[in-house]
Amino acid sequence: MTLDDMPRLPLGFLPTPVQTLARIGAKLGVDLQVKRDDFTGLGGGGNKVRKLEFLMADAVARGAKVLITAGGLQSNHARITAAAARTCGMKPVLVLRGDRPDEVQGNLLLDYLFGAEIDYRDADTFPAEVGPRMQHHAEVAEARGEKAYIVPIGGSNALGAVGYVACVKEMAAQYEAAGKPAPDYLVVPLGSGGTLAGCHVGCALFWPRTRVVGIAVTVSVIPFGERIAVLANATAELLGLARRWTPEEIWIEHGHVGPGYAMLSDGGHAAIAMAAREEGMILDPVYTAKGFAGLIGCVGTGAIAGGSSVLFLHSGGSPALFHFARQLA
Ligand SMILES: Cc1ncc(COP(=O)(O)O)c(C=O)c1O
Repeated sequence: MTLDDMPRLPLGFLPTPVQTLARIGAKLGVDLQVKRDDFTGLGGGGNKVRKLEFLMADAVARGAKVLITAGGLQSNHARITAAAARTCGMKPVLVLRGDRPDEVQGNLLLDYLFGAEIDYRDADTFPAEVGPRMQHHAEVAEARGEKAYIVPIGGSNALGAVGYVACVKEMAAQYEAAGKPAPDYLVVPLGSGGTLAGCHVGCALFWPRTRVVGIAVTVSVIPFGERIAVLANATAELLGLARRWTPEEIWIEHGHVGPGYAMLSDGGHAAIAMAAREEGMILDPVYTAKGFAGLIGCVGTGAIAGGSSVLFLHSGGSPALFHFARQLA
């Protein structure tokens, strides 16, 4: 099926704007733009909205009444999936990693506002338990006679990644309308991988000369290059494209994770301050701050050439900021 034929539920406020970051661009010596996917709208916005446009079309077509997914306590994905469930008249169930904290803040607070049923699981056993727990909730719903739909962690299967193929198409149209050539580099924060995989497929289709740079915000047991190549290939196959990727073709920067996933890094902290003070732009500590630190780092090492045009994907995540209030203030 081609991209234009894929069933899609219009959940986002699209197209999101492309903004020039003139002050930071001048400091770094590049022509810097940012795609504001923090403004996709639904449930507070972020990159998951685009994935859910395709995943929810599938869930609705299957007659789902209960929508199940999983993530960390401050998962943006879980929060937006809960909102997507509500906007489609479904009940959200979230399997979250960790115990219920004393203070319910940020994304978790929004999960409660969306009325999600939350299944807190021990952080250590979560990786082994998460699949069976989601399956369990699906069986409980089906036993009540309600169809259940499981959205994978991060919305990162081939169907979800199609959201970012569509995003590159949207950006290509915006650049063309503005009379701008395609950017030399597209810089993307990398978590579960669907966004980066979708961007590779999208660039192959619409911006073939643009180099896609993934900035890892976590470490991965299966090497990221392999994961992204497999996911990009599955996405290409779904869209009837012949192009395939090898892990060596996937550019990933690993040096910006800091102390670990969902932990503030020094580079991320500096990026948050720079974006806020130079441009009035909010970055989140978990994804976009590390992604932006990666962009700055690549310009510093020359991996991204001085004078080039660079497009940063702002993938959202601002609700998590409030969870980090003590460290940031
Ligand atoms: C704000 C934000 N940015 C980036 C990402 C990473 O996207 P992906 O999981 O598709 O790699 C996520 C994933 O949860 C996110 O919430």
